[in-house]
Amino acid sequence: MANEKKGRILSGMRPTGKLHIGHLVGVLSNWRKLQDEYECYFEIADWHALTDAYDRTDELRDNIFNITLDWLATGIDPEKSVLFVQSHVLQHAELHILFSMLVSLSRLLRVPTFKEKIAELRVGELRHKTKKALEKSAEAAVNSFFDILEQYQQGQLDQASYRAVLKAKLKEAFMESLKDAFIGEEEELPYGHLVNYGLLGYPILQAADILVYRADHVPIGADQLPHLELTREIARKFNSMYDKVFPVPEPVLTEFPKVPGTDGRKMSKSYGNTIFISDPPEEIEKKIRKAYTDPAKIRKNDPGHPEQCPIFAYHKIFNPDEVPQIEQDCKAGKLGCVTCKMNLIKHLNAALDPIREKRREYESKPDLVRDILAEGERKARTEAESTMIRVRDAMKLW
Ligand code: TRP
Repeated sequence: MANEKKGRILSGMRPTGKLHIGHLVGVLSNWRKLQDEYECYFEIADWHALTDAYDRTDELRDNIFNITLDWLATGIDPEKSVLFVQSHVLQHAELHILFSMLVSLSRLLRVPTFKEKIAELRVGELRHKTKKALEKSAEAAVNSFFDILEQYQQGQLDQASYRAVLKAKLKEAFMESLKDAFIGEEEELPYGHLVNYGLLGYPILQAADILVYRADHVPIGADQLPHLELTREIARKFNSMYDKVFPVPEPVLTEFPKVPGTDGRKMSKSYGNTIFISDPPEEIEKKIRKAYTDPAKIRKNDPGHPEQCPIFAYHKIFNPDEVPQIEQDCKAGKLGCVTCKMNLIKHLNAALDPIREKRREYESKPDLVRDILAEGERKARTEAESTMIRVRDAMKLW
């Protein structure tokens, strides 16, 4: 019952593909627990996914289906929580446009995630620009070479000075045109052409996601805190300017173990070092066998450094009982990496087996999955519309 609970939660993920064990340990196991304490709304943020992938929508539907399977399989329970797709609830868009009046352009330009994205895009563009500039310069140098060759053939240059002139002129032509290629017209926002309006508005849409359900708690990762800060500013501004409609939501930050990728770096699809929740046992075995281990431990009896080893990090999560023994034996050179990996494979599969089983079951019933999302949509829309009635009234919209 809603009123026995501690409050209301909204959180979401962008549907960008299958989830990995980092999501399982970091986010989903936390959501699973929160379901019993709070009234939870979990959103598949497909509009947010469009902000930087609007030109690649072929996989969007599959991604939404897959993320729903991952959620259901890991215990996000439609009997307890509302699971829904953002774009099914148009009230998010309505509130987004109203909120967009309350935020200045400079405030949005200062959002750290936006600044990072711009920096990333500019590096990408720089490479492109540099390549084009180099091509132009090479062309200018070649042209200059033929000019000088012509002068030489016509006897205007002697053999001795020919080489020196050629060298100097080629270099000059190259450098001059390189410089020219980088002089562009001055723009007020030199990156304005790199980014769409939707990306700039990303955190306003996120504020609408949260506030349209009048959520008071938002479980998020630390990287999302600036978005929540903006959400809080918007809630306060709306409340003081029009009427007190919104709670000022609090973040729910939880400490959880960092899960490294199989190469020891951060687990991320772009590094190709992920272990997906849905990976079949053979795939798990292949990935773990190939995984990075302490490079100083070549032979079984070499002493290892478990704190730097991703296999050890996985043991901590999926095989906590044996961790003290593994640590001791690895350091003492009594435990070889192959044995250690085989042991992990066993435990990892034991943990993932029931999840995979449940996932397969839902996967074989796509109509059931669709029904779950339709039911979530219905509940979410009812709640969102009741907020919007208050919002339209507070703003004296017709
Ligand atoms: N921006 C979040 C992320 O990339 C996803 C998201 C969208 C979200 N709307 C939200 C998270 C609302 C929390 C609350 O992870």
